[in-house]
Amino acid sequence: MKFSAHSNIALIKYWGKHGHQLPSNPSISFSLKKCQTIMSFAKTPSEEFKLEFFFEDQRNLSFEKKIQEKLKKTSLNLSSFHLKIKSENTFPHSCGIASSASSMACFAKILDNTLNLELDSKSLSSLAREFSGSACRSIKSGAQSWGEVDYIEGSSDKYASFVKIHERFHNLRDTIIVVDSSEKKVSSTLGHSLMNKHSFASARFNQAREHHQQMVEALRTGDWDTFSSLTIHEAWVLHSLMQSADPSFCLLRPDTLKMIEALNDQLNIPFTYTMDAGPNIHLIYEDKYHQDVLNFLEVHRFYESIIEDEVSYE
Ligand code: PMV
Repeated sequence: MKFSAHSNIALIKYWGKHGHQLPSNPSISFSLKKCQTIMSFAKTPSEEFKLEFFFEDQRNLSFEKKIQEKLKKTSLNLSSFHLKIKSENTFPHSCGIASSASSMACFAKILDNTLNLELDSKSLSSLAREFSGSACRSIKSGAQSWGEVDYIEGSSDKYASFVKIHERFHNLRDTIIVVDSSEKKVSSTLGHSLMNKHSFASARFNQAREHHQQMVEALRTGDWDTFSSLTIHEAWVLHSLMQSADPSFCLLRPDTLKMIEALNDQLNIPFTYTMDAGPNIHLIYEDKYHQDVLNFLEVHRFYESIIEDEVSYE
């Protein structure tokens, strides 16, 4: 049996958490259509719970260890069976794209099936959150908001909610400019934890709450300029928080800056961009400008490869 889950790209970033994987501020993301994790699995009886995990046919012991630790913290009653999972991504291996959202969302779907939990989408999103916060935004497609706010009915810190967006945002592409595909040196887990004592923490959480509300409004009304400037601003705030953490770290590469300079100076279409916890750039724009982007990328080659994806809105 196979399950799949898509990746997502955060516009308003989740950076900092408390309690059992609860966010310090609300976040919002676009779901991607093509970047997906696909897992097949086999369940056989065993004296005790055992997990074997293969990523692209290679046994991945560190993933197994990480999952076992996370499983212990859940309230799941793991009966005695052996779970063998084979996982693949539709995007190239080692392309530096965070796959934890899609893989953990996919893993939650497998647990739901193997344990006969029959979870609804909110509970499934909540279960995915226990493995990786951003994974809760990868259970359902479209724009997904995570975090309790009074202007989104039914919103919660435990699971993501669907946000309807204006038709102006219905034909967006996300061209992922892979500047550096090497594995990142600082995990998100460590990055989140450094927010606990970060000098700018409370200002950041307040700012993110404001940005989130402004973004929800911009997406609802089709306000491209606000959407674009908030998205860019959030990317830089995320990376500034990393650089001003103690200890400080920087996940951007010189080519990230070269690419952004070229985008600002030479790409004459309406676009926005963001970076997640890594050096790669998600360039977001309307489908009708695809050829302009290809022409631009032909000339400004400060990157290793590109991945073409699209944003889903429903
Ligand atoms: O889900 P985690 O713990 O890997 O954290 C993801 C954090 C960011 O990707 C940087 C931002 C986000 O909201 O997805």
